[in-house]
Amino acid sequence: MKINTALKLALKKTPRTPDEFDKLPEHVAIIMDGNGRWARKHKLSVSKGHRQGTETLREIIRHTDDLGIKALSLYAFSTENWKRSEEEVAALMQLILDFFASEIDELDAKNVRILILGDKSGLPEKQRETLKEAERRTEKNTGLRLNIAVNYGGRAELVKAAREIATLAVNGSLPVDAITEETISEHLYTRGQPDVDLLIRTSGEQRLSNFLLYQNAYAEFVFPEILWPDFTVHDYDLALDAYAHRERRFGRRIGS
Ligand code: IPE
Ligand code: IPE
Ligand code: MG
Repeated sequence: MKINTALKLALKKTPRTPDEFDKLPEHVAIIMDGNGRWARKHKLSVSKGHRQGTETLREIIRHTDDLGIKALSLYAFSTENWKRSEEEVAALMQLILDFFASEIDELDAKNVRILILGDKSGLPEKQRETLKEAERRTEKNTGLRLNIAVNYGGRAELVKAAREIATLAVNGSLPVDAITEETISEHLYTRGQPDVDLLIRTSGEQRLSNFLLYQNAYAEFVFPEILWPDFTVHDYDLALDAYAHRERRFGRRIGS
């Protein structure tokens, strides 16, 4: 890309089109962090911070779909988030219901296929049914793979995979020697999907917090210092552009 074009694009605030990127990731994962700090900054309750965060979520999903990216994984609630106050957990659970009630028609109409990553059985019944219904309703869709992590932990996901694989080995349907990296991938929630290419975590924190441990093995990381409710489509485009200029090596020596 010419320097002039790169400069023009950096200044451009309107959403970019796919041809304005040198390359796009197939799978983007986002740790949507900073709702609490945003609420504190605006002297609002933490629930208001989470609610504002769902506005960002809508825009980011829409833009991901417009760009033709194959998969988007969003961290909405971790297995560790149960440690928060009862009031905050209740607000987050309510937001899950509200989000699907207002978005499911549009997502389905856009051919988006929804998958919940995490243990739905550990959720209250209403949330569990809503999430199952969203998956069921969109399971034949062939567009964007939208993965929403709810009651998700990367280690718990690996334990689940280990148990499933061990069961197959014990009952004789899978020889131990036949267990490969692909076997593990096929027993993760994201089975059949590409590994994460780009991981974005907003708010300036630089850690995985137990998100997609196996799938992020070779992901490129971008850490915008922006709280999730303030994160715009333009900021997203900048993160995607940063990805486009990364040199991915996968252990090889490039250029010799
Ligand atoms: C992330 O925002 C959203 C969830 C964990 C659900 P936080 O609530 O963690 O925001 P901070 O880190 O306190 O600012
Ligand atoms: C990770 O954020 C979980 C989600 C964004 C849903 P946290 O804010 O819970 O992570 P830590 O506690 O800062 O590592
Ligand atoms: Mg946080």
